Amino acid sequence: MSFKNPIRPSEITPEHIYNDRRKFLKSIAIGLGATALSSMAFAKVRSLDNIVDSDLSIGDKKTSFKDITTYNNYYEFGTKKTDPSEYADKLTTDPWSVSIDGAVKKNKVLSIDEIIKLSSLEERIYRLRCVEGWSMVIPWVGIPLRSLLKHVSPTNNAKFVKFTTLNRPSEMIGQRYKVLDWPYVEGLRMDEAMHPLTILAVGLYGKVLPNQNGAPIRLVVPWKYGFKSTKAITKISLVEKMPETSWMKAGPSEYGFYANVNPKVDHPRWTQATEREIGKGLFAPRVKTKMFNGYEKEVGYMYKNMDLKKYF
Ligand code: MTE
Repeated sequence: MSFKNPIRPSEITPEHIYNDRRKFLKSIAIGLGATALSSMAFAKVRSLDNIVDSDLSIGDKKTSFKDITTYNNYYEFGTKKTDPSEYADKLTTDPWSVSIDGAVKKNKVLSIDEIIKLSSLEERIYRLRCVEGWSMVIPWVGIPLRSLLKHVSPTNNAKFVKFTTLNRPSEMIGQRYKVLDWPYVEGLRMDEAMHPLTILAVGLYGKVLPNQNGAPIRLVVPWKYGFKSTKAITKISLVEKMPETSWMKAGPSEYGFYANVNPKVDHPRWTQATEREIGKGLFAPRVKTKMFNGYEKEVGYMYKNMDLKKYF
């Protein structure tokens, strides 16, 4: 066991978030009946057509559909791992549009169907490594983000891409509490966004993305910690300056802009050298975390001259 210290839930999230969470849970217990608590957000799941296998998939054993869809991080629905599968069915995901603006030749507003048509749908099996020290292997279905970015013709001022999640407290009950600075914002450098490994996912296990996993469309960047993978995206802006992300605002000394998976750079409060694989049981040995989550050959060149301890 290479954990420096055993981690209590109160330590995983910054303290103010933990305290807000306690308030949040209390209010949910009061405000919602047992029916809502037991409902799962699987209602919208339907199969996707014409999915092709990708050469960029990993061969690791996939985590079960049940674990992928019931052990989630999605603070818009609460901070407990089971909150998203319990409360995300409230979210209306159709109709949906994504606006793309900023440093592009022409702003666009696209539906999910229009986005899917920009490229063939691929299954990409990736390991999702969460900053909290666990991982899963997920068969995503999606298109490369670069197909969408090319479609809007970025101008020379496009240096970063900013992703914004839906802001709808009426359906996203976690947004009624200032757990994070809503809406959830994340960002990538332009070369990271254009990298062939970066995808916009619309499904998993061949089916439409369940709400708790970020329906109808989310980002997946497999060499970065999971918090970079913005769920329920409504806006993609190409910008000149590095966007300040929700996690950078919440804990600037703990969550950096780059967030590359790096076993040599620990989180200030716990090691990143090893991870727990979800679904293998609590007593299974932790496995060694790989540099860039196993993609050093594919992505290392983008960070060659950077001090990754400073730019964590
Ligand atoms: N996106 C939004 N909008 N809100 C969130 O709270 N959590 C992030 C990321 N995307 C989050 C989000 C974190 S911390 C992780 S680890 C992944 O989603 C988890 O994705 P999963 O629940 O599909 O495994």
